[in-house]
Amino acid sequence: MCGIIGYIGYREAVKIILDGLECLEYRGYDSTGLAAIENGKLLYRKNVGRLSVLKDSIDKDPITANIGIGHNRWATHGKPSDINAHPHLSSDGLISVIHNGIIENYLELKAALEAKGVEFVSETDTEVVAHLIREKYKGDLLSAVSEALSEIRGAYALCVLCESEPGRIIAAKLASPLIIGFGDAENFVASDSTALAAHTRRICNLNDRVIADVTAESVHLYDLDLKPLELVEEHIPDEWTQEAVALGEYSHFMLKEIHEQPQAIRNAAMGKLGSKDGSVAFDGFSFTKEEYKKLKRIDIVACGTAYFAGVFGKYLIEKHLRIPVEACIASEFRYKNPIVGEGSLVIAISQSGETMDTLESLKLAKARGAKTLAITNVLGSQIDRAADYRIYTMAGPEIAVASTKAYSTQVEILYLLALYFGSLSESMPAESVEALTNAAMQAPDAVSYVLGQEKAIEQATEEIFKSSRMFFIGRGADYCASLEGALKLKEISYIHAEAYPSGELKHGPIALIEEGTPIVALATQPELYDKALSNIKEVKARGAKVLLIARDSAAYIAREADISIMIGEMEDDAAILPAVCVMQLLSYYTALKLGRDVDKPRNLAKSVTVE
Ligand code: G6P
Repeated sequence: MCGIIGYIGYREAVKIILDGLECLEYRGYDSTGLAAIENGKLLYRKNVGRLSVLKDSIDKDPITANIGIGHNRWATHGKPSDINAHPHLSSDGLISVIHNGIIENYLELKAALEAKGVEFVSETDTEVVAHLIREKYKGDLLSAVSEALSEIRGAYALCVLCESEPGRIIAAKLASPLIIGFGDAENFVASDSTALAAHTRRICNLNDRVIADVTAESVHLYDLDLKPLELVEEHIPDEWTQEAVALGEYSHFMLKEIHEQPQAIRNAAMGKLGSKDGSVAFDGFSFTKEEYKKLKRIDIVACGTAYFAGVFGKYLIEKHLRIPVEACIASEFRYKNPIVGEGSLVIAISQSGETMDTLESLKLAKARGAKTLAITNVLGSQIDRAADYRIYTMAGPEIAVASTKAYSTQVEILYLLALYFGSLSESMPAESVEALTNAAMQAPDAVSYVLGQEKAIEQATEEIFKSSRMFFIGRGADYCASLEGALKLKEISYIHAEAYPSGELKHGPIALIEEGTPIVALATQPELYDKALSNIKEVKARGAKVLLIARDSAAYIAREADISIMIGEMEDDAAILPAVCVMQLLSYYTALKLGRDVDKPRNLAKSVTVE
């Protein structure tokens, strides 16, 4: 959600900014723009729509500069339009600002500025920042930004240029993500390392309430009162390579990432799962047996796909460890006065490590005395840094908005976590240790097996997805999987898809079933096969067209379905990943046939950094 890139150095800033904005497209955006200082003159371009429009306008009327800032906007305040796109400028054009986040008191600030005669041109909250900095400016941009920020409430990742100080970018961060990249005689600012991987491995993740004074030769950090702060250099992880963020032979990142799943799952377990006896160790997380004994409950907080991984985590941990677990949507957790404190472990699952609601839930739990564990894919992300403990999923960069390999690796980590808790509890039955170990070890091959059926899955979409709405049904682990299946389909095909526990169909949704309504039914848990069969008969009797996703051992159910995709045989707990992989491919090929923008679906953002 919103992407920021800034460059200062000796190279062509506009080229670096445009390339950076392209790398950041995956975060989601609806308009784009940049500002640069050419021969002492602050110039800017911005437009609603895709980056290609901005590139065309730059091609027609180039800007030559060694300093500049660029922004992909995902609209919050004010519709997507040329005028609302960033950068925003002070009325005299001296100050230029790009911003990710929400300025909560912008109406108040706007009224005060208007009373002083400032004229606003956009509907955005960001424009107040440009005018406010201009009002404070008396020859030193750093002081002006610091003074302006003392009046601002809300969330921000900001980059500011000033025409009369062409040798510096001032950046600032509170709640929204921002990193600095270090080069030789050049430096960078960006929302995330995807935009920097081509230029440097040396970065610094800015903390909240930090202002950075960035020149070509130096980076200095300050708190909001301009007290100097220490700069700690970090590194972009090895798997964040330029190739990893490129499409390669694939037509879409989503397809590439679906295919990367077997290796990503192996990477997630590597160095953590010791041997076939199920011993597990994590670098960033360890509990003593005493600490585990004191654990009264676990809450998993997350959003979107990560939440659905959490729903499966609840199912898995409760099944094998018999300890109460809640999976909570982070935006609900924050505002429900949650029962957390000493004796609770709160696990935040987040691919990006930046989702605002997940981050704030984790901070809330920590403030109330709970232990907090982050399961994230991005080292150094805000959630990673805010938690007491951390486990990395090691999925590598995930670019498509619809999450795929992040989900698989989160589920893999949850197998390992359940095993780890089992080793602490000393009472986990041997069958559970075996089942979880097998699941963790079988998952990559189980997913590969399904990838081998890609053609058949693609064909299945021809038959069944001609409707504007459909259901995904299952029980237990199959319900957990169907939640993710329905989310995938709605995200990228825009077909209204709903996941329902099969047994609950009769209590409402069955009224919606008519001749030809497509239903994806799951049957991967042998003890529930007969129930699955009854539910399939029930919906078929009302005219539904059933696409079954089932284990080979459920072949007798397949006879009742219109189409079946069989996922092979594996441990019960391992079936969720191949089943979800089938639904990822179904969604992908359906969206493709409908001509959707698979990697960048409308209105969605990869990383939701505002509430
Ligand atoms: C957005 C993305 C989803 C993602 C969710 C949570 O909605 O479009 O794909 O699952 O955020 O993101 P996180 O980075 O916290 O896992």
